Amino acid sequence: MAENAHWIDVSVQSVIDIAQGIKSYEFVPLLEGNTLPPYSVGSHIDVYISDKIIRQYSLCDPSTNGDSYRIAVKCDVNGRGGSLALHETVFPGKTLKISKPRNNFPLNTEAQEYVLIAGGIGITPILSMAYKLHQLGKKFSLTIAARSEKMLAFASTLASSPFADRITYFFDNESTDERFSADAVVGKWFEGKELYMCGPSGFMSSIVSAARENSWPDTFIHSETFVSRNLGQLENLPFEVKIASSGKVFQVAADEFLIDVLNRNHCGVPCSCTQGICGSCITPVASGEIEHRDAILTDTERAAGDQMCVCVGRAKGGRIVLDI
Ligand code: FES
Repeated sequence: MAENAHWIDVSVQSVIDIAQGIKSYEFVPLLEGNTLPPYSVGSHIDVYISDKIIRQYSLCDPSTNGDSYRIAVKCDVNGRGGSLALHETVFPGKTLKISKPRNNFPLNTEAQEYVLIAGGIGITPILSMAYKLHQLGKKFSLTIAARSEKMLAFASTLASSPFADRITYFFDNESTDERFSADAVVGKWFEGKELYMCGPSGFMSSIVSAARENSWPDTFIHSETFVSRNLGQLENLPFEVKIASSGKVFQVAADEFLIDVLNRNHCGVPCSCTQGICGSCITPVASGEIEHRDAILTDTERAAGDQMCVCVGRAKGGRIVLDI
């Protein structure tokens, strides 16, 4: 891998089994005396596992003093290989490269009341948010849906947290009359109330629908998913891409990704997750009709039509001009 200012060398301080199939990893600066950049809650880092595997994980340690970062990783044996590689090859003492934190899921600390919802491993960014809101003395509720208590990351941290009495759990394996109801969890919207959620995309879609039915404006519904959406599920049209600075034009075939064409032609666009979930490839667009397929840009940003995630986004045919 080429040296890049983007990467920070860290040492793995600890690896702990925190739930069935979930490990937490604590990273400290490789060089003694160094500190890690501060981050705001909702941030994630890229973890460089190999040339072909770079993955994004939310920072989930409630303390943000720069001594260490903590992530939690659920092993997905049927996934793309990142979580399995981490589980099988990363142990205390190993050196890794990570990126500086980026935040695509920032918490607005000015609201009056918050609804926090986590599905499964989606607890990772939500845990930091809960600690932050508690610290600020804000009113909030935290609802967690998971397969079972054994499969919930940070179950003991949550149980002993100072906000334990504000948490409602829904476990699939428990026979109880009370079932998860998105409608009841989000409640009616009022001025000053905001919703933050993280979990599988289907889980979050049902919550968004319930929130809209309860008069929630989209601006106050914030989410982060860890599964990309729309990739390869829609009709792909061929199109042209023009680079504004050089005037060069390249063809993107229906079965090609825009990012592959840009890379092949050395256009120098940064790219990390290739799944539309990290935001590192967001590129300004001067003209053209964009087919957005990422999980990062907001509806307002999409409507503006002046930027796109080039790893998964396309043009709706014709020509798109990238302002690079
Ligand atoms: S590379 Fe992560 S969003 Fe495009």
